[in-house]
Amino acid sequence: MKDLTIKTSSSESVIHCGEGVFFRYAPALKGRQLFVVSDSNVLSYHRADLWRALGDDYQIYALSPGEKGKSMRNLISILKAMLDSGMKRSCTVVAFGGGVVGDIAGLAASLYMRGVHVVQIPTTLLAQVDSSVGGKTAIDFGNVKNVIGSFYQPEEVIADPRFLKTLPAREIRCGLGEIVKYGALDGDIYDALMSHSSDLSDLGFLGEITYDCIRHKAAVVAEDEHDLTGRRKTLNLGHTTGHAFELYYGRRSHGECVLAGMYYELYAAEKLGVCGGSYAEGLKTLIRAALGKIPAYDDVASAARLARFDKKNEGDYISVVVPRSKGECTEIKLSFAEYARCLTECAAQLKENQNA
Ligand SMILES: NC(=O)c1ccc[n+]([C@@H]2O[C@H](COP(=O)([O-])OP(=O)(O)OC[C@H]3O[C@@H](n4cnc5c(N)ncnc54)[C@H](O)[C@@H]3O)[C@@H](O)[C@H]2O)c1
Ligand SMILES: [Zn+2]
Repeated sequence: MKDLTIKTSSSESVIHCGEGVFFRYAPALKGRQLFVVSDSNVLSYHRADLWRALGDDYQIYALSPGEKGKSMRNLISILKAMLDSGMKRSCTVVAFGGGVVGDIAGLAASLYMRGVHVVQIPTTLLAQVDSSVGGKTAIDFGNVKNVIGSFYQPEEVIADPRFLKTLPAREIRCGLGEIVKYGALDGDIYDALMSHSSDLSDLGFLGEITYDCIRHKAAVVAEDEHDLTGRRKTLNLGHTTGHAFELYYGRRSHGECVLAGMYYELYAAEKLGVCGGSYAEGLKTLIRAALGKIPAYDDVASAARLARFDKKNEGDYISVVVPRSKGECTEIKLSFAEYARCLTECAAQLKENQNA
């Protein structure tokens, strides 16, 4: 069990991480006025744990599972349920679930009576290593992802690997996308991943590496809480192209698209001479170890067009954060034509290798 604290200009967030933290820290919430937000999937597996830790004196709101849960309609419905059940200014919202639950519960907590306590208890790998930490909350609106939201730090994050045991393999791969991303940003995480590349999905290993990922993200957030200085932008490594793949091809999870995006962007970085040698090969090994076969996408130039809408872009250039050397990344700016050409060449090379 390990703890760390994120101090920002306006708040302090305590993060407990490791096997056993749930039953060690969640019972301390008993006695507060609690409003638990979860989803029906998570509750079907872990309702008994919740009851064991918190007793039965809490209100609970269960979303239907999936991204569609992050809607304005559900946000209003959560706020109404909080009001109807007499939640006071001193109440605590407990987000018990994956990133969907964490994002909407965090936003509801930031709005209700101008802000009440929120405790994140992430139950997916992605939520443990990424979304529960850093205070970004959001819902999707008008077909635009995360367009309505706030920065609102949780008072506490309780990240216990016990919940990962019931997670489907696809969701583990999804979280691995973010973990390999941290590997490209942080030399210690890279080394740890390389020495476990034969079995990245091992739950014992994931329980350990989660702390290192959270530590990395916490340091970035403490420096650039509101995404203003460029430091937090590094966490978008793999995401410019990953988001474009996610939107265009739509079949794979977010993390799987980020892994594919990292691979294609690494091709561009090598082409420009920004990254290379055994380090670039090591990163490719990790991406393959997490994702399996890298998709040789058809019509990748059309997918590339969607990267034009990425919020990091300035002018006509596509901005991409790419690895440079171990523990170091850099931002490159490519014209759209250059960017599309790199992706197309990478897809052709993958196709050729797979047919060879
Ligand atoms: N706030 C941030 O900084 C941030 C960062 C990254 C992603 N996100 C957001 O996170 C969301 C994705 O999060 P996610 O990948 O956790 O998705 P999710 O919350 O939809 O969970 C994925 C699936 O796993 C199920 N599940 C959750 N815990 C489980 C468990 N322990 N056992 C079995 N099944 C379980 C869920 O019911 C769901 O079906 C997206 O909406 C994304 O925008 C936010
Ligand atoms: Zn991501």
